[in-house]
Amino acid sequence: MELLKKCQQVLEENRRGDFTIPSPKLYPFQWNWDSGFIALGLLHIEPEKALVELETLFTGQWGNGFLPHIVFHNAEKYTTYFPSADYWNSNVSDFAPKKLSTSGITQPAVHGFVLEDIIEYGFDRDRIARLYDQIVHYHQYLYDYRQFKDTGLVAIWHNWESGMDNSPLWDSVFKRIHPDMLKDVIVKRKDIHSVEDSAATRPTDEDYKRYIYLVNYLRDHKYERVPEDFPFQVLDPVFNAILHQSNKSLARIGKKIDIDTSTVESWIRRTEEHFSEIHWNDEDGLFYPFDILTGQQVKIHCAASYIPLFAEIPDDAQLKALVANIEGLEDMLLVPSCIPGQPGFQAKNYWRGPVWIHMNWMISEGLRKYQQNDLADRINSDSIQLIEEYGIREYFDPLTKIPEKNGYGGQSFSWSAALTIDMLKKKES
Ligand code: DGY
Repeated sequence: MELLKKCQQVLEENRRGDFTIPSPKLYPFQWNWDSGFIALGLLHIEPEKALVELETLFTGQWGNGFLPHIVFHNAEKYTTYFPSADYWNSNVSDFAPKKLSTSGITQPAVHGFVLEDIIEYGFDRDRIARLYDQIVHYHQYLYDYRQFKDTGLVAIWHNWESGMDNSPLWDSVFKRIHPDMLKDVIVKRKDIHSVEDSAATRPTDEDYKRYIYLVNYLRDHKYERVPEDFPFQVLDPVFNAILHQSNKSLARIGKKIDIDTSTVESWIRRTEEHFSEIHWNDEDGLFYPFDILTGQQVKIHCAASYIPLFAEIPDDAQLKALVANIEGLEDMLLVPSCIPGQPGFQAKNYWRGPVWIHMNWMISEGLRKYQQNDLADRINSDSIQLIEEYGIREYFDPLTKIPEKNGYGGQSFSWSAALTIDMLKKKES
């Protein structure tokens, strides 16, 4: 079967009525930023479904604007995921929806830029305006609850909020959670039963205990505010770049559909003023996360360093340095989630090295905005080759030479399918 058809088939098989799961068994509910990327693929097939995907996600939005990273539709039916809806117990917050269980952490705010693509297909203004208001409400939550010192940059409170779960970027942050703090933390992992070779390709049990320690902590605080010494408070260039890009999209959409954009524009200005001051490292020519508790950047070279291209944040000199850094990645498939040789790198382990299709997609779209088409084409062709050769998997070892065995994590992975569709369609046009 041709690749495009296979990708469409994955999206169809993972569809559960009004939303799409990321992958059978491993992720059996609706995930936040997954749905955004999935919508970009659906737009090429049935645009109506793309809009419905986002509308369904926002049924999980809380009264204070917060948008959870998982919406547990049909929670009782699927038991292959931990932590379950009961574990999160979103009802501890008065803001949580009454009729639907959700998680209590969020994920990168992709919805604004996805909506900008959706409106190209022409939709009823009321539906677009409703979603627009919900997205603005979510961003307002981020600035109200998470903003760091009026910088227009917002903090994440959990590694799962970055989406880059066990990235070496978080290793130093997690050192703050000592083994004796984990004594009472119980984990009942399910993920390891849904993938092959989990010891080499998924986080360790010790890692998981730390993730669940943070969940317990946040749940005890009703998922609302955290004290100053809360151990995981990080400014992530991926989260902040995506939020910025979505704000820029909201500003453009607002003008088109006649909605006041002054608040969104003030967020854009503030972020533009501070993004590089916090995230840019001139010596290395890379963007890095910033650990609020130490007041220092986390200087590990990862794919995360390149996502600000997607939001057109780099100036000419920064662009030059970033391009030189990517071009320096020789003898590997682009773009490893953590660059070989960096501390903590592991070629097959989840976010510690493997290539992810959605990261590649954002980096190559970003490069195109700067007319760096050759490099963007190379990244897309590595992505398509991986999917074609090994199937529509979650992630891929960057060092394995095709056609040796490769392809790890979830099978029939929705965003890999959706963004491959987008890459193939753009290649055709
Ligand atoms: C997981 O469970 O591994 C997810 O990435 C967090 O939502």
